Formats: sequence, C-alpha cells, structure tokens
Amino acid sequence: MIISGNIKETRNQIKEWKRHGLSVGFVPTMGYLHEGHKSLMEAAKRENDKVAVSIFVNPIQFGPNEDFASYPRDLEKDAALCESVGVDLIFHPEAEEMYAEDFSTYVDMNGLTKELCGKSRPTHFRGVQTVVSKLFHILPADRAYFGQKDAQQLAVIKKMVRDMSMDIEIVGCPIIREADGLAKSSRNTYLNAEERAAALVLSRSLAEGKKLVESGERDVSKIKKCIEAVITGEKLARIDYVEIVDFADITPIENLDAAKTGEILCAIAVYIGKTRLIDNFICKYR
Ligand code: PAF
Repeated sequence: MIISGNIKETRNQIKEWKRHGLSVGFVPTMGYLHEGHKSLMEAAKRENDKVAVSIFVNPIQFGPNEDFASYPRDLEKDAALCESVGVDLIFHPEAEEMYAEDFSTYVDMNGLTKELCGKSRPTHFRGVQTVVSKLFHILPADRAYFGQKDAQQLAVIKKMVRDMSMDIEIVGCPIIREADGLAKSSRNTYLNAEERAAALVLSRSLAEGKKLVESGERDVSKIKKCIEAVITGEKLARIDYVEIVDFADITPIENLDAAKTGEILCAIAVYIGKTRLIDNFICKYR
C-alpha cells in the first residue's frame, strides 16, 4: 500500500493505473476511520480494480468555534484498517500541500447548502466542496464513495459534479450503526459514558418519526413535533434542527406529498453536551 502526502506523486500513480486500463474507486475521509468508512472502502474494492483513500482533516470546512484542533487523528490505526481492506493508496497531505499561503479559490453553491447544517455552519459546505473538487483533481478516479449519514453533503457533492460536469460517478452508501442504533461517527469518541447513552435519542427519535410516516401521516409539522418530543425528553440533548425536506433539492416541504420525486430526507442535528451529532432517514414512499 502506497502512502503519499504529495499531490504530483499521487496524481501520477492514479493516471498510471488508468493508463493500464484499471478502474479506480476513491474514498475521501478525514481519518479516524470506523466501520462506516470501512463499508465505503469495501464498496470501492468490490466495484473497482484499485482503491484510493484520502485522509485529510480539512481546516476550511470547520467554523471558527468548531472542533478542527481537537478532531481525532490516528494515522497508524487508519493505515492498518486500510491495509486490511486491501486499499492500494492513501493520500495524506499536510495542510500546506493543499492550501498554499496565497490560496484564494473556492467552490460554492446557491440553495442546497443554505438549509439544514448550512444554517448553523454557514461556511462548512464551501469548505467541503472546495476540498472535494481539489481531491477529484488530485485523484482522478472513476467513482467516489460517500456515506448517507452526511445526506446533505452527499446531495451537495452530487449536484456539484452535475453542475460542473465533473467526470466522476458519485456512489452513496447506507448509514452504518452501532448495535444499539447510534450512527457511527468519528465524533462519537467525544462522548463520555453518560452522553453515549443519551446519544441514542437521535436514532430513537428518528425511529418514532419513521413509524409515523409509515402509518400514513403526511403533515410535516406533526412528524417533526413527534421527533422533537422524543429528543427534548433527554436532558443532555439540545436540538440544533429537526427538518424534513424534499431530498431532490433539499427544500423545505409542509406535506410529504409535495416531494417532487416522492423521496424525503428527515434530518436532525442534536447537541449531546458539547458534541454535535447528526442522523437521518431517507424515505421513498411513492
Ligand atoms: O465527510 C467527510 O469526512 C468530509 O466532509 C470530506 C468529504 C472527506 C471532505 O473533507
């Protein structure tokens, strides 16, 4: 397995594989890899001849009061997991390799990025789109794999690729959960034992909301109220947002029947103590 922090070297390696007619799957990550990332790498491995993973905690997608400095990092453990899955290349650049001192070009989008996480993290998606565009240029793969846990990120990346005519297929993969329902996340490591137990309120509240949808409820405010009631019952939890949007374009809807393709995204962000966690379900009901 190749580990490189160098842009030119990495790009040349991917190009060489492609010259030999090999397909390349790419999994962009910020490291501290868990089962969720592993499932993305395994999908990439199944569907491509070669697999590349990037590990880069991208400073420009964190707000000034967010957790960039404390974001967990463990390259040795990450490399071992990549090796066990059969990853062929890890791109692990220093920040200076990605962002020269005079860096000043950003990729941004109207709509989509302003809802949900965009409300409390106004510069987050600009940072994600910028780094992912750069990564797609550095690692010109055939397919790139993203988790559905970050459903809005997945929608934003898909749209960016469409809008900019980028030559890469975006593959979304299902949420991977702990046995008790908590969605896997590198940020789960911030939780102490009491908070870890309280964090179950995310998946529990979504399960209640989903039950209501499945029983035929279409009124978004009623579904949101049901989810909010479960969350507010947990004393360590504080709601950032509970939203139901049309998954086609991440626009708010009042009734599920208004969704253009019948696919809705029910997404929540909840603080458990100081840790902000997200979770969601996507429902195609017609
Ligand atoms: O989902 C993530 O881990 C990050 O947002 C990504 C896509 C690797 C960009 O830094």
